[in-house]
Order: sequence, then structure tokens, then C-alpha cells
Amino acid sequence: MATDQPVRGAVLGLGMIGRHHARILQSDAGMRFAGAVDPGGDRFGALRDPALLFGSVHELLAASGGPPDFAVVAVPTEEHLPAVRELAAAGVHVLVEKPLAATADEAREIIDIVRDAGLHGAVGHVERCNPALLELRRRVNDGQLGEVFLVATERVGPFPDRVRDVGVVKDLATHDLDLVRWLGGGRVDRVAAQTQHRMGRAHEDLVLVTGQLEGGVAFNSVVDWLTPMKVRRTRILGERGMLVADTLRADLMFYENADVPTQGWPAMQALRGVAEGDMTRYALTRHEPLAVELQAFCALIRGEDDALVVTLEEGLETVAVAEAVLASAASGQTVVVRASA
Ligand SMILES: NC(=O)c1ccc[n+]([C@@H]2O[C@H](COP(=O)([O-])OP(=O)(O)OC[C@H]3O[C@@H](n4cnc5c(N)ncnc54)[C@H](O)[C@@H]3O)[C@@H](O)[C@H]2O)c1
Repeated sequence: MATDQPVRGAVLGLGMIGRHHARILQSDAGMRFAGAVDPGGDRFGALRDPALLFGSVHELLAASGGPPDFAVVAVPTEEHLPAVRELAAAGVHVLVEKPLAATADEAREIIDIVRDAGLHGAVGHVERCNPALLELRRRVNDGQLGEVFLVATERVGPFPDRVRDVGVVKDLATHDLDLVRWLGGGRVDRVAAQTQHRMGRAHEDLVLVTGQLEGGVAFNSVVDWLTPMKVRRTRILGERGMLVADTLRADLMFYENADVPTQGWPAMQALRGVAEGDMTRYALTRHEPLAVELQAFCALIRGEDDALVVTLEEGLETVAVAEAVLASAASGQTVVVRASA
């Protein structure tokens, strides 16, 4: 595909997230909107042209404009696999919403289908496109914190009354399980987790995870649907201080360790430990993460092999880690991810 040609994209599922994909596809200069499929209709009034709403993938593919170049799969997680199967059979590239699938087995099947069809696929772990996290990662990789000790995430808030098919681990904590690896620089090696069921649903609504990445960095994540305020916080602690990202506001702060001189007295330095130093809030250029994600996927299908997308293999890894988290919560044991994947 020519690099200057707009890419035609469609959306499957016009729900909480699909409507935003549709908004961007209808407004971004580098994209053309091929239509949306939702048997439930356009509940949120996302489409400018109602003629571009279709009741099935079959109708979308048969529409006068021809099949789209790619489709965003934004249907409930349990329906990702059949949707990918149908799209790939028609030669349509797929950007699949996170989590890639409801189970690691289904995620593997998606990878096989996309590879065998010779198509591009990626996963919508949109937090990786948040400006605060992009800048946090750049600073950590530049060595601002020195050695990294801990990646800690908190993602709590009220229950969004939409999720029916999975619990908080697969629906929400998959953001964190992807981020800790991406930010901490190593795959998840082991996890120990607890879950709670407080709302009377079949699936868990709170999870506490502690774990370790390959390379030794520790992480912990607190994720729930029970808290009456929304918090989205990621912090990385290292030998020179701590970087804290608030992804709701796309803010990034640096809490520096104070440089308190101990006149060449190392024993006293060790005794005093860390002291509070300066705090800096960085001014960031803020782009909408979902638009950045879609632009990167379009770049990939235009032939930019190094486009910043989350690969299907990374998406599978995250689902496998989520399964290890649930296994750990069920057994009360630490689970080694490589062994269980
Ligand atoms: N990246 C993120 O931050 C983020 C945020 C929310 C949801 N998600 C993910 O997006 C997916 C959808 O979640 P949601 O909250 O938008 O769900 P939702 O229930 O709000 O919307 C899903 C929509 O899909 C439609 N649908 C169901 N089956 C379909 C089919 N076969 N073909 C076409 N449309 C179909 C439904 O009618 C509904 O409108 C899930 O995998 C979820 O995990 C990601």
C-alpha cells in the first residue's frame, strides 16, 4: 500500500470503546471510514452517515466501497476470535481490542489465523499510547532513575455496567500486566495474587498482584471495580527517586531523592536512607492515545514494520499472565508464568 494513501478502516462493535474508534476513523486525515457493524445499532450516535451502519460483517464486506483495509475488533472479549476469523477470511487486517482474547488458547488461535492469512494484527493496549507513560518510559530508559526497583500500578474505580463475560483480571488488570512488562523491561516471571468477589457476580471484582519480572524488577498492581473514585496511577521507583504517571490526566511527576551530603561518611549515608528532594511536574504534549494507537496501526499496514503497535504475541503473553494471576488466586500459591503458559 502506498505510504500517502488514506487507509480504510471499519469498526466491529459500537459500544463504550468502539464508538471512539469510529469517531477517530471519521475525523483523522490519514484514515477513511468504511463503516461499522453492530447488530445492536448505533446506540451512542457515533456515525455521521447512518448508511455506514451494518448488521453483520457479511454486509460490511459486500458494501459498495468494498472490504475495508482493516477493522477494529471492539466486540465483547469472548467474541474476538469468531470476529477475527471472519475478517481474516476476507483479507482484512485486524486491530483487536484488549485483552486479545478471553483465554490464552483463543489468543493462540487468533495468532495462527492472522499469520496464516498473511495479514497484520495488533492489540489495543491503549495505555502504551498515553503521553504520560510514553514520557515515563523514555525517562526510565534514559537512566533518570538509575537502577529500577519497582513498578507499581493502581487502577481502581466503580464498576462500568457493561462487562458481562470476564472479571476484573482479564478486563482491566490486563492493562497493568501489559504495562509492568513494557515499563519494567522484562517479561513477567512469577505472580502471587488475591482476588475478591464483592458484587455477587460470577467473576472477581478486585485483584491484588505482586510479582517479579525476568531481570529481577518487582511489581505490584491493585485493580478493582469497587472504589467510589477513579484512579489510574503508575509509579516506578529507582535508586534516584520515583516517576509517577497519572494516566487520567496524562500527568507525569518526578520525586527526586534529596542529595544530602554526608561529608564522605558512607555509613551515615546508608543509615539516613532516602530523603525527600525536589518534585517536578513535566509539561507534556498531549495527543489522544486512541488516535495514536490507530495511526500506528495504519502505519504498520502501510509498510512501516517498526510502527509502535502491541503485537499479537505480546497480547497472548498478557492473557497468559492474567490466567496465571487467576490460578495463583485460586490456589494461594505463587505461579511461575513460563511454566504455566
Ligand atoms: N482499550 C481500552 O481501554 C478498552 C476500554 C473498554 C473496552 N475495551 C475492550 O473492548 C471490547 C468491547 O468492550 P466495550 O466496553 O466497548 O463493550 P460494549 O458492551 O460497550 O460494546 C460492545 C458492542 O459490541 C456489539 N456486538 C456484540 N457482538 C457483536 C458482533 N458479533 N458484531 C458486531 N458487534 C457486536 C454490541 O452490540 C455492543 O454495542 C472488549 O474486549 C473490552 O475489553 C477496551
